[in-house]
Amino acid sequence: MTQQLVWLVTGSTGGSGLALVRTISARGDLVIATGRNISSRLSSLPSENPNIYLLDLDVVSPLEDIKSVIASAVAIHGRIDVLINNAGMSRMSSLEEGSEEFVKTIFDVNLFGSIKVAQAVLPHMRSRKTGTVAFIGAGLGWIAMPFLSHYSLTKASLTMFAEALQHEISPLGLRSIIFEPGGFDSDLATPRNDGFGGPPKIEDYQPVFGSVFGAASGIPKSAMAPSDIAKIPDAIIDVIKGEGLAKGRTMPLRVVLGPDSMDGIRQKCKEQLELLDEWEDVTLSVMKEGHRETSRWLLDNVSILPKS
Ligand SMILES: NC(=O)c1ccc[n+]([C@@H]2O[C@H](COP(=O)([O-])OP(=O)(O)OC[C@H]3O[C@@H](n4cnc5c(N)ncnc54)[C@H](OP(=O)(O)O)[C@@H]3O)[C@@H](O)[C@H]2O)c1
Repeated sequence: MTQQLVWLVTGSTGGSGLALVRTISARGDLVIATGRNISSRLSSLPSENPNIYLLDLDVVSPLEDIKSVIASAVAIHGRIDVLINNAGMSRMSSLEEGSEEFVKTIFDVNLFGSIKVAQAVLPHMRSRKTGTVAFIGAGLGWIAMPFLSHYSLTKASLTMFAEALQHEISPLGLRSIIFEPGGFDSDLATPRNDGFGGPPKIEDYQPVFGSVFGAASGIPKSAMAPSDIAKIPDAIIDVIKGEGLAKGRTMPLRVVLGPDSMDGIRQKCKEQLELLDEWEDVTLSVMKEGHRETSRWLLDNVSILPKS
């Protein structure tokens, strides 16, 4: 029998985090479900499956506090094999109207929180020379949707973190991976009483907002969330464990989940290549004489494909 993996999931109090915890434990692995006050909010969760353990973790806490929670997490089963940085938030706001506190908070949760939890887990994984650090990014990390731009900014940054991390830790036997879902039903877009975000108050932006998100856009609400939250955990677990559709395949650095995410990213990549071709003369106009060949050193060190 293969050894049970020990997973730690952040933001497990609802949405995809909770769905992941339930699916990981149902598939026979051990899971430490973390979240803000999760031990009181979801105290009955371990009674659903004894593979689930609860630990309070607010990802915006100072790094030293997060390190101490991670030390407690490691002590539970003696190891963490897979970290899933899932905690996240989103609010609509025009870029101009995003308050300083809102911008700081969304970066604290979506980007700096993931960085800090990864920093806290990495020494443990390095000492065992094994472990996977996973991130839940978003298709919107590739494509900047108006009025969701702050969210896009955090997810685009998270992607670069996951990518750079992979370059640094794969030689040590560790792995980094980012999943980039499109829309699925959850509480992510549910309005909160934190005063952050909302439709633009500045009149100039209101017609733009209406044409993107209002009745004028003609987009049915269901089209905003074409993926099934019940299917997301199995896809993530399969890719990380090399099971199901991922059996026999090398784990990639980035995995796109959902048709809207895939189509948006494909369009972005195609359009970016078109722009590179169209403006190549300007791009190359700044080079020093005789420096056309880009060194293999640069290209080899940034490739996102698995090293052969
Ligand atoms: N839903 C989508 O369409 C979609 C698409 C692409 C990517 N994603 C990503 O998927 C992940 C999960 O989101 P979801 O859709 O499942 O939304 P959700 O239902 O709102 O879940 C978000 C989770 O993150 C937690 N969280 C927020 N701030 C936290 C903090 N400071 N410390 C710890 N936990 C915190 C929330 O906890 P509380 O209960 O305490 O608020 C909640 O458990 C996010 O990273 C999101 O960006 C979602």
